[in-house]
Amino acid sequence: MGEPLGTWRRTHGCGTLGPADEGVKVVLTGWVHRRRDHGGVIFVDLRDRSGLVQVVFRPDERPALHEAARELRSEYVVAVRGQVAARPQGTENPALPTGAVEVIAEELRLLNEARPLPFRIDEEEGAGEVLRLRYRYLDLRRPALQRNLLRRHALARAIRRYLDGQGFVEIETPFLTRSTPEGARDYLVPSRLSPGHFYALPQSPQLFKQLLMVAGFERYFQIVRCFRDEDLRADRQPEFTQLDLEMSFIDREALYALVEELMAAVFHEVLGVALTTPFPRLTYSEAMSRYGNDHPDIRLGMELVELSALLGRTEFHAFAQALETGGVVKGLNAAGAGSVLSRKELDDLVELSRSYGAQGLVWARVEERGWQSPVSKYLGADAIQAITDRLQARPGDLVLLAADRPAVVHDVLGRLRLHLGQRLGRIQEGFHFVWVTDFPLVEYDEDERGYVALHHPFTAPQDDDLALLRAAAQAVATGMPGGVRPDAIDAARIRAKAYDLVLNGTEIGGGSIRNHQREVQSLIFQVLGVPEEEARAKFGFLLEALEFGAPPHGGIAFGFDRLAMMMCGEESIRDVIAFPKTQKATCLMTEAPAPVEPRQLAELHVKLDLPDA
Ligand code: AMO
Repeated sequence: MGEPLGTWRRTHGCGTLGPADEGVKVVLTGWVHRRRDHGGVIFVDLRDRSGLVQVVFRPDERPALHEAARELRSEYVVAVRGQVAARPQGTENPALPTGAVEVIAEELRLLNEARPLPFRIDEEEGAGEVLRLRYRYLDLRRPALQRNLLRRHALARAIRRYLDGQGFVEIETPFLTRSTPEGARDYLVPSRLSPGHFYALPQSPQLFKQLLMVAGFERYFQIVRCFRDEDLRADRQPEFTQLDLEMSFIDREALYALVEELMAAVFHEVLGVALTTPFPRLTYSEAMSRYGNDHPDIRLGMELVELSALLGRTEFHAFAQALETGGVVKGLNAAGAGSVLSRKELDDLVELSRSYGAQGLVWARVEERGWQSPVSKYLGADAIQAITDRLQARPGDLVLLAADRPAVVHDVLGRLRLHLGQRLGRIQEGFHFVWVTDFPLVEYDEDERGYVALHHPFTAPQDDDLALLRAAAQAVATGMPGGVRPDAIDAARIRAKAYDLVLNGTEIGGGSIRNHQREVQSLIFQVLGVPEEEARAKFGFLLEALEFGAPPHGGIAFGFDRLAMMMCGEESIRDVIAFPKTQKATCLMTEAPAPVEPRQLAELHVKLDLPDA
């Protein structure tokens, strides 16, 4: 142990060997994945980054070598010199890429030992996530995670290759900066040299990439870390990576075409998958009304259908009440599901909808003689017939109806739709992209008692809606005591030149054409109720730049981790991030975040005021 490897230079990757190598003398290095003692003959599955190969130690030919192999334990690090041979007939392992061959060991060098591991590397399941994150470097030895990170690398490489070919320049932007307006909470870094002042880690490079357009770079991209202190989910991490890009002198159509070509190139290079372009498009309002959310999963049907007009005079209390108070009744048809779901499952669906925030859920099994449903006697034959027709429901189908405010109905039915899609196995294979376009520029926020930017405040309004924007700005400027009332202005109707790219129901990217004219930017700040002085204080550098010949520009940012996750067929971005954080934004391996020395706090002029434990 410990001597230089000298002539023991590795000749092949374990996972690369095959019948073409039979008879070849090889030197392999790697980890003992598994050792099996088969009545004398010892088999070691040797693993390196390229994969596994079986190494054979026979007792009769080289007894000392065999004895040494007996000492090997899981995850010992070794070098092996040997000769590739075809496996004896009948012992091939078709499940293993190298399963047709084995390496007959001639020499063995132990490079390092390993303590017994906290969990087994050679088993996919078993160890809990806490243990795996605590020993992430061991977890990362598992072939599935190795494959994911190699694929993530391939993705980055393919992106760089494509964008370079299109004249994009990769430029880094600062991490120690000011707050960026992406809507999440900032991570702050206290400044030692400016006591009482803080840097904010960027939620995205948004302002810098716009400034790079003003600076004349025309096409910028960056694969860049972003930081957002928000509630975490399977597809959200506090620090995550974006593929960020920005272009000058473009419009939405040019951007859509470029992104489609980028995705096609990358999916082809990394996965060998041919995407169909152009991608379909849905406006924001279509997506909301047909799928219940702004990241529609178009891999399944079961669209939401508006039924309010059919129920105008219904005596069914729940529906009548919703309609009288400005609500809607919508439904969906789970074709063929009437006989698939048991009565218990239907009751569970009602409970599930309640947990999503619904008052209730109406279900009906469609039969030859009408509906089998707890509410059929209240709804009346005409309404039942009209709903059946509108939903194109046939005997054997399952109809689900919800009534409430539109936001609740959309959310509940949208989520039920996905739940049923899974349950019924209706989700098509493959990669289904869709653009969501024409987002509203601003939305009313009950808590803020005013309008907030739906994307971010630098997004341009659509040309046709400029008059609406001016009117809204005027209304806000003339003042409304106690804040802006949502019904007072038509701000929610102003459409933005904003777009999201959605893949299999996950938002993988979002962007917009920006305001390159100072005047329009000012109108937006007015609508958002941001006084000119505040806008100047926060974003003065950008606003000033717009006055120095800013070109028309726009861009998009993709969730790089999300894209990698989907290309690896994973359900969580943690599985494509080398060192991810937990749900509580902690790192179980380094134990960050951690307390610091009082001396460090003093240097930063920071005093703690901790809540009682
Ligand atoms: P946006 O905020 O939509 O846009 O972010 C772009 C994409 O980043 C991904 N994403 C995340 N991924 C993992 N964890 C998170 N916490 C997280 N938050 C966002 C999503 C999202 O679509 N500056 C604008 C872009 C632009 O206008 O050009 C921006 O950051 O996939």
